[in-house]
Amino acid sequence: MCGIVGYVGGQSALDVVIAGLKRLEYRGYDSAGVAVLADGQVASAKKAGKLVNLEKALVERPLPSGTTGIGHTRWATHGGPTDINAHPHIDNAGRVAVVHNGIIENFAALRTELTDRGHDMSSETDTEVVAHLLAEAFSSRGDLAESMRQVCGRLEGAFTLVAVHADEPDVVVGARRNSPLVVGVGDGEFFLASDVAAFIAHTRSAIELGQDQVVELRRDGVRVTDFDGADADVREYHIDWDASAAEKGGYDYFMLKEIAEQPKAVADTLLGRINAEGSLTLDEVRIPPRVLRAADKVVIVACGTAFHAGLIAKYAIEHWTRIPCEVELASEFRYRDPILNTRTLVIAISQSGETMDTLMALRHARDQGATVLAICNTNGSTIPRESDAVLYTHAGPEVAVASTKAFLTQLVACYLVALYLGQLRGTKYGDEIRAVIRELSRISHEVERVLETMEPVRELARSLADKRTVLFLGRHVGHPVALEGALKLKELAYMHAEGFAAGELKHGPIALIEEDLPVVVVVPSPRGRSVLHDKIVSNIQEIRARGARTIVIAEEGDDAVVPYADHLIRIPVTPTLLQPLVSTVPLQVFACELATARGNEVDQPRNLAKSVTVE
Ligand code: AGP
Ligand code: GLU
Repeated sequence: MCGIVGYVGGQSALDVVIAGLKRLEYRGYDSAGVAVLADGQVASAKKAGKLVNLEKALVERPLPSGTTGIGHTRWATHGGPTDINAHPHIDNAGRVAVVHNGIIENFAALRTELTDRGHDMSSETDTEVVAHLLAEAFSSRGDLAESMRQVCGRLEGAFTLVAVHADEPDVVVGARRNSPLVVGVGDGEFFLASDVAAFIAHTRSAIELGQDQVVELRRDGVRVTDFDGADADVREYHIDWDASAAEKGGYDYFMLKEIAEQPKAVADTLLGRINAEGSLTLDEVRIPPRVLRAADKVVIVACGTAFHAGLIAKYAIEHWTRIPCEVELASEFRYRDPILNTRTLVIAISQSGETMDTLMALRHARDQGATVLAICNTNGSTIPRESDAVLYTHAGPEVAVASTKAFLTQLVACYLVALYLGQLRGTKYGDEIRAVIRELSRISHEVERVLETMEPVRELARSLADKRTVLFLGRHVGHPVALEGALKLKELAYMHAEGFAAGELKHGPIALIEEDLPVVVVVPSPRGRSVLHDKIVSNIQEIRARGARTIVIAEEGDDAVVPYADHLIRIPVTPTLLQPLVSTVPLQVFACELATARGNEVDQPRNLAKSVTVE
């Protein structure tokens, strides 16, 4: 949650910080603020609402120019999205400015302590105490980095903090516990940000910060220490995508661009992983094959869309490897007493690699001796760093809050893991595994074909813009696809949408069906598991008999559904387990178009943030 930017160098800090915040606005967008150091003072502006409100305010009341500054876009946790609660927060003397991502869990006690010592607090945030603590520490130590280390020792919870002090005009200090923070290394200039997208236009060299580290940026270098002041190793790395990857490139929304990029994202995620013999090489998964062979249980933890990818993975893993697989919401898993041991393989799926619930779940698993494999889209982020191994998805930066291309690539990665484990363990499905690997290598073309036929889906979505509810049904892997279709519609169109297992309908949800209620049904392939197909055709008839308007997603050539489909969306013929790679795409397009028709903000839906770094 929240986007943070810090800058010290030779350019206008305000320009660099605002441009960086624009690229990070997807992380949180209920208010924004900046502070620059100029003429020995802290000059600051902050505004509720989107970044554009802050930009307008800066035109009306420009800040003096300076070359050291910080900025923030907020996703409120403590106190509403008002001007006063917006960051940066500044101490009473106006000398320190601080921005924060996360939650200071012991802020109430600190606030009482500070007010007892005469400090005046103006906001409702948990963050403001940090500005006051830093000011106190600086008055006795006169060193911002040292003050930050001291203050961090007093804070509980998850945080990234970035601060400046008027008495140290060429210094920006950052601190990190659990929430993301990356250093950008330029020539005579340095950047700090929650995500490399903020500074990619200036430099492609970055430094990852570890847990509980403090970084001090000066024009001539950086120093990284732990919270006790001991110097830490600094590892610079190259960012392998450029600024254009994080731009809209002619599309109205990032989401449209990201949907369109899916064939490439899928192909890139497979690249180099299928060898010339048609089997899989996942050397990068640095878990010894003996450990993988010995695994007797797989547990998948994830949130939201990534959780849906996990639900689909369960079908693939159990089928091809014959290892029992459980899938659990990371936020629930973490507070349970799950049965894990050294033979458990835990798979943590996360686009951002920063989702706090997933991070905490993987720590919980590792504490009990499980081996953790991360499936992640963000290089160097916390979840892969804390896992035993990582299989990266290569979706490129996903900016729209609603996940699309990351989901498809998570599916690909899950299939790769399932097939690889199957290959290693030599199950009776060897021939099928080889055949599916061949199909996977062609699948990006099928995704492309789906995208070419989406105009009727868009038309249909527009015609349903005034509906209040849409239901989604599926069986087998189609069930998580139905859940994902419903999630997309909720988050983008703000409509009541629910996904059900089609077989469960008659146990209750069928009571929801009424005249003209749109119901999307994801139909499994009629080949192979045809029983499943026949059952769902009956389910379609049952809901149609009760007045539902049926929107049927079915394979090309599946004629059995034709008489019962008020709207028919065709998808290419694919092996059953891989079908979600093509059946999800129309649901993404449907939700995106419906949201647009309802006048909603597609890339930044209300109340959400891209990367959920609080529990
Ligand atoms: C997807 O559309 C969502 N915005 C959300 O459910 C997301 O998938 C979830 O928060 C997990 O994020 P992660 O993959 O970055 O961990
Ligand atoms: N907890 C802080 C607040 O509510 C920071 C929120 C954020 O991460 O944007 O202001």
